[in-house]
Amino acid sequence: MAKIIHNDTVDVLLERVSIRAFKDEAIGLDVLNTIEQAAQNTASSQYLNDWSAIRIKDPAVKTEIARICNQDYIANAPVLYIFVLDQYRNSLIAQSEGVAVDSDEFTLKNSYRFSQAQNDAVLALHAMETAAESFELGTVILGSILGNIPELVKLLALPKYTYPVLGLALGKPDQHPDPKPRLPRDIQFFDDSYNAEPNRILDGIREYDREVQAYYDTRGKDLSERAYSDMTTKKATSTAALEMGFEHARAQGFDLEK
Ligand SMILES: Cc1cc2nc3c(=O)[nH]c(=O)nc-3n(C[C@H](O)[C@H](O)[C@H](O)COP(=O)(O)O)c2cc1C
Repeated sequence: MAKIIHNDTVDVLLERVSIRAFKDEAIGLDVLNTIEQAAQNTASSQYLNDWSAIRIKDPAVKTEIARICNQDYIANAPVLYIFVLDQYRNSLIAQSEGVAVDSDEFTLKNSYRFSQAQNDAVLALHAMETAAESFELGTVILGSILGNIPELVKLLALPKYTYPVLGLALGKPDQHPDPKPRLPRDIQFFDDSYNAEPNRILDGIREYDREVQAYYDTRGKDLSERAYSDMTTKKATSTAALEMGFEHARAQGFDLEK
């Protein structure tokens, strides 16, 4: 069995856990400037730089976002960024060069660019997350910002050709959770082609179920011996996710049919 090689970067990644309680301490501007630079230095599909991030400084806006997310702790996060995929800036460039951006000629509003811009925003957020953790800050990624997209669009004055992707809350950690178990390696990494044999995968999941149950047992949560399978099956049939889909993209100018 190959071993793990440690260095500072790898240790930051291996020790990462989501933090949902923060000390009431401000984060210095130099740290924020540094993590923003780390995000900006991320690769970007075809060099389109098609994402932006909004730092929420106003406590009232933070409280509104916590409400949209239905997660109170977000209002107390010392730093909160909302990452958006952004073709607005590029539409201004194209328009100033004579492109009719409201016509089919403008393809930055179509599905491929939308998904690539979303990738770019996620990669930049992840770089910021890791940079913040390297300063011993705690972070949590927030998909729950999509809980009410029209409200968020209005609150942040998001222009046409932008769309919210994820939030990132960070600050000095006020909790130290143990890392959650991860899947057995051989059902998540494959050699040369996907090994789709159901029994092999489900055997791995049974092993994982027991690990996840043991993890939650130590936290006083009484989950079944199918802990992970139960959680996954519940989410597999949850209709809450339907409200967070891309149906609001058209109102932001995107045409994802193409
Ligand atoms: C795309 C994405 C969206 C997430 N959204 C939320 C969220 O809205 N609220 C939250 O508390 N945690 C959120 N998380 C954190 C996950 O719940 C967490 O990563 C997962 O439970 C594994 O735990 P760990 O990060 O401590 O390893 C999100 C994570 C990702 C990658």
